Amino acid sequence: MTNCRIFVFFFQTMVDLIEKLQDEARQGEAIAPKFGDTRSYARKFYIESYGCQMNFADSEIIASILQESGYGATRNAEEADLVFLNTCSIREKAEQTVRKRLTEFKSLKKSNPGMLIGMLGCMAERLKTTLLEEEKLVDMVVGPDAYRTLPVLINQADGGQKGVNVLLSREETYADISPVRLNSNGVTAFVSIMRGCNNMCAFCVVPFTRGRERSRDAFSIVAECRDLWDKGYKEVTLLGQNVDSYYWHHPETGIQVTFANLLEMVANVHPDLRVRFSTSHPKDITDEVLHVMAKHENICKYIHLPVQSGSTRILQLMNRTYTREWYLAKVKRIMEVMPGCGISSDIITGFCTETDQDHKDTLDLMAESGYDFSYMFKYSERPGTLAAKRYEDDVPEEVKRRRLEEIVSLQNRLSLESNKRDLGKTFKVLIEGESKRSSQDWMGRTSHSKVVVFPKENKSLKPGDYVMVKVNDCTQGTLLGQII
Ligand code: SAH
Ligand code: SF4
Ligand code: F3S
Repeated sequence: MTNCRIFVFFFQTMVDLIEKLQDEARQGEAIAPKFGDTRSYARKFYIESYGCQMNFADSEIIASILQESGYGATRNAEEADLVFLNTCSIREKAEQTVRKRLTEFKSLKKSNPGMLIGMLGCMAERLKTTLLEEEKLVDMVVGPDAYRTLPVLINQADGGQKGVNVLLSREETYADISPVRLNSNGVTAFVSIMRGCNNMCAFCVVPFTRGRERSRDAFSIVAECRDLWDKGYKEVTLLGQNVDSYYWHHPETGIQVTFANLLEMVANVHPDLRVRFSTSHPKDITDEVLHVMAKHENICKYIHLPVQSGSTRILQLMNRTYTREWYLAKVKRIMEVMPGCGISSDIITGFCTETDQDHKDTLDLMAESGYDFSYMFKYSERPGTLAAKRYEDDVPEEVKRRRLEEIVSLQNRLSLESNKRDLGKTFKVLIEGESKRSSQDWMGRTSHSKVVVFPKENKSLKPGDYVMVKVNDCTQGTLLGQII
């Protein structure tokens, strides 16, 4: 009995920790240029970013706009004149974290009355009035398509007015703005290729906070990747909510560029520039994309292909537009074209009306797909979404929790099995930096996106170098090896 309790306690703690890590993954990171910006600025800004990679990429665009207007970045909120939170609305918990932070920043204002606090990003879109008027927590509220107007809004807020712009655009892609690479390791960088989303997944707030889908000028994307290569970067990740529906046509020449075309254009920047992308919607990833991936060694053999649920009935309610069988056929096709391709997923547990059988279908699908990794979440109802309007959030919290625990523990097993299959194999690894655990070890990634840690040995190696590493041990999250 005692053992059982200890186990339950341990398991619970583990689930709590994983959930927390996932929910707060890359949340609340303060950013400032890593390589000393030598210009001196009269006023300083501080940005904390929450949410998805696209939001982090947006913070680099915001930093660029602010620097152009004469504001310098700082990592220290206490010395900032402008404090920005680039926020996320995807789950209720994400919003709660931001509200808590805003209250903390408000107290900073007591010692620095000239300080302005701005809410940027997805929450700005959703909660404009509440935050400005009812709670008086912020001086500025700026949505994801309005960052060019930040300098004007700051002036307004300086003059005592509230600086507000939450207009969503059908055109804005910030194509011409060169992001300031913040907190960069100098090796890997994110490049936004599109904005917004036209899918209406019933649970999701993104179409409301980010607006209509639009694709960025293909040539500006390639130019940004070339510039990154020239600056010594070795890996780019092309970002969009649904990259496979990327489509751009040149307004004058009529040249049309699909995602497969774009991937090939970026892969051709240099054979040693690794190319990754995220996220792929299973309904949109084409054979053409798979063949381009297979053709180019530098396009990483890894696809993040969120399934959300393994039950066709739930997938229909979620408006994902594919069935369980269709998804599994897609995974099979990926493995046919690229044997050994890494694959990962997002899973929501406890969506409206989900039964034990639906949940079991999800567990079975996970095992059949053999995911290397998954982000797993409890369903969190978001106001205004299709699900909130149509269905009752009727799965009790403790059932969501139990199902999440089962999903997490299955994924842990699948991740370990997947890593064990790599024992004895040799991989080309891009060194990203020192291992967090030991300054004697490097940390890098394989093409299929697994983290590899290995002793430094050769003193002349540095981040950005490729090495061949033979895997001789592993944990659930990491491959351990030796340079050969
Ligand atoms: N565009 C991406 C995902 C963006 S959001 C895609 O289509 O896959 C990232 C993940 O958050 C989603 O894949 C989903 O698993 C999760 N998510 C989104 N809304 C959620 C909600 N209301 N409750 C719980 N998880 C949610
Ligand atoms: Fe949300 Fe679906 Fe769009 Fe992803 S594809 S951002 S889950 S609506
Ligand atoms: Fe969050 Fe907005 Fe991204 S809601 S997940 S920051 S698009």
